[in-house]
Amino acid sequence: MLVLGIETSCDETGVALVDGAGQGLPRLLAHALHSQVKLHEAYGGVVPELASRDHVRRIVPLLRQVLDEAGRALTQVDLVAYTQGPGLAGALLVGAGVAEALGAALHRPTLPLHHLEGHLLSSFLAPPPPRFPFVALLVSGGHTQLMRVDGVGRYALLGETIDDAAGEAFDKSAKLLGLGYPGGPALARLAEDGREDAVALPRPLLHSGDLDFSFAGLKTAVMTRLRGFGPEPTDAQRADLAASAQAAIVDVLVTKTLRAMTESGLSQLVVAGGVGANRRLRQQLDAAAQRRGFSVHYPPPELCTDNGAMIAMAAAMRVQAGLAQPRRAGSFEVRPRWPLAEA
Ligand code: KG4
Ligand code: ZN
Repeated sequence: MLVLGIETSCDETGVALVDGAGQGLPRLLAHALHSQVKLHEAYGGVVPELASRDHVRRIVPLLRQVLDEAGRALTQVDLVAYTQGPGLAGALLVGAGVAEALGAALHRPTLPLHHLEGHLLSSFLAPPPPRFPFVALLVSGGHTQLMRVDGVGRYALLGETIDDAAGEAFDKSAKLLGLGYPGGPALARLAEDGREDAVALPRPLLHSGDLDFSFAGLKTAVMTRLRGFGPEPTDAQRADLAASAQAAIVDVLVTKTLRAMTESGLSQLVVAGGVGANRRLRQQLDAAAQRRGFSVHYPPPELCTDNGAMIAMAAAMRVQAGLAQPRRAGSFEVRPRWPLAEA
């Protein structure tokens, strides 16, 4: 079964083909991605209308590229899956519209999916795949959640952020430091030249006893410390602040994740979402895993951020698990706000 996956929920256009035949794990045949980073850079963040228009421009060429790379024809596609939400309404409409039009033209069913389910299952794209059940740390620009995953479609929320997401904390701190968008990778780069114990920053909810997160206060603390450096902070001071901010965010993520591992008694951790590409986070989780004897699974670095491969993979796994209800292509709606628990 050939599954086409389409992702357009935010600022990356992603298209992928997965072969989901048989009982084994579905196999990624090809994927293509266009990042809009350059487009939004000048504005310091994603401009929704520009995002939608760029998805329109990119999606068909990406589709052709994926079919070429996989050596398949469009008529061989058996199922068209796409991100239905959550995300930017206009951006979602582009992917949904194209997917439904393809389905209708090819007389193939479509499968609308939850974006976070794609992230949750993205580590199945890299060997060795995790086995159910596992704990998942989902850290993106819009979400910070710890979940217990017992199988495809069986996701229980253990804890989540009560305000900003971890990616937002990276992005907002980076903005204060005058770094470009997206801030996460830029802040991580600057942090390499700094000392992470140089600036005292709060670790909100670190000892709250639950698995929730809070990152909104961190931005204010970064702003206050920056002002403390005077009107023209030196490069060294900025690097110290970047390193300290990254350390504060990562410390909280790691502490809560370890608590989730202990409380759940599970022996596998899956990390997903854009912040999962962060080197310091990976180092700390790997070290803790070795100490405590659990395993950590990451998607391949290029598939940590949004992509079509995770959507095609999640669709194929849903079908294999007998959970998908592929629908007749045609009318559709997108769901810009959509809790995973309701998916
Ligand atoms: O999963 P994703 O691509 O999109 C959402 O669904 O939100 O995540 C994007 C987020 C952004 O906040 C970005 O700054 C962050 O992931 N990010 C990073 C790194 N790479 C991406 N944060 C810290 N370190 C990184 N290396
Ligand atoms: Zn995402």
